[in-house]
Amino acid sequence: MIKIAVLGYGTVGSGVVEVIQTNQKVINERVGEELDIKYVLDLREFPGTPVEKLIVHDFEQIVNDEEVKIVVEVMGGIEPAYTFVKRSLLAGKSVATSNKALVAKHGAELLAIAKEKNINFLYEASVGGGIPIIRPLAAALTGDVIEEITGILNGTTNYMMTKMYNENADYDAVLKEAQARGYAERDPSADVEGHDACRKIAILSSIISGKLVDFEDIYTEGITKISLDDINYAKAMGMKIKLLASCNRSGDKLCAIVAPHLVAKEHPLYNIEDVFNAIFVKGNMLGDSMFYGSGAGKLPTASAVVGDIVEAAKNPNRSMMATWTSEKLELEEKADTTKRFFVRVKGNETELKDALEVAFGTIEVVKLEDKNDEFGFVTEVMSEGAYEAIAAGFPQICHMIRVK
Ligand code: HSE
Repeated sequence: MIKIAVLGYGTVGSGVVEVIQTNQKVINERVGEELDIKYVLDLREFPGTPVEKLIVHDFEQIVNDEEVKIVVEVMGGIEPAYTFVKRSLLAGKSVATSNKALVAKHGAELLAIAKEKNINFLYEASVGGGIPIIRPLAAALTGDVIEEITGILNGTTNYMMTKMYNENADYDAVLKEAQARGYAERDPSADVEGHDACRKIAILSSIISGKLVDFEDIYTEGITKISLDDINYAKAMGMKIKLLASCNRSGDKLCAIVAPHLVAKEHPLYNIEDVFNAIFVKGNMLGDSMFYGSGAGKLPTASAVVGDIVEAAKNPNRSMMATWTSEKLELEEKADTTKRFFVRVKGNETELKDALEVAFGTIEVVKLEDKNDEFGFVTEVMSEGAYEAIAAGFPQICHMIRVK
């Protein structure tokens, strides 16, 4: 019998217990032994529920119990998760986690400890919820040089963008719905400001480069400035607005960014709706591929965690995970990256167009029927640095969204 401990009985933790109980028979067959949840660590008691008898409040009880072979960290946040995970690994216990903040910040160190101890630190659920993406990048695609990863990596914001687009729904109302459905982070600003997606693309970038991609180096812009007017411009252009997290190879460097983008109908990410996530991966041999599925929520995320538990249980003395070193990868300067920009301008098109074309080159004008005091335009491909320098000369510019 393999004893495990679950740290945190929130949305994902209760999902992990549910997945193990529901699929008990098949999971045990796959492991070749019985998995047994010995402890659930939480501050609360859960009286009258089946988990009540498993609840403990002191981590020492878990870390000092030699019977516990696998620790499941689903608390979220950096502390005390980091201390508990590190101590578990140092005590020779494999760890499965869904905690992207922890993996993005301390992954290199925790992976090194696991390797040294010949145990596992697995984190499939940290990116893309239930979608398998860590193992494909770390194993199946290691014959390729990955040239691009572009993902819709945050379910909350994709849910919000979808509702705003399809139902003209109000930003605050759709955020509340996403929270009620258990998609959002404890502090939903991590979702809407793009920080959650940023940590996820940092993890994927670290895997494909083998070096630490520091999330703090990634330019990150959330969806808080996206209004129904922006969505109406997108509709007028036959596009949708999506929060994209991407990483592109540029020579020896990678460039990474998290920002709302206009996505055209032809792009595979255009049709990714609601809480679903999708990760577009381009390999130099593979060509284009897409990984699609439920990116947030209790059972999809728990499914990925339990997959890691099974992997750890089947490989008690063998490190199975994707690693990267603590050497920092230098990212390409954002100013040097190139793309097209959609720009909204206050004023009259006939008065401003010539000056805009002198500055930006050819532009495609977009107008909304009910907006007489402003118009929009799309630039040709140019660098972020050039865009910023030129836009600084036009105080009439009120908003810019990048075009994928
Ligand atoms: N808050 C995250 C999301 C949960 O909405 O995608 C999954 O990481």
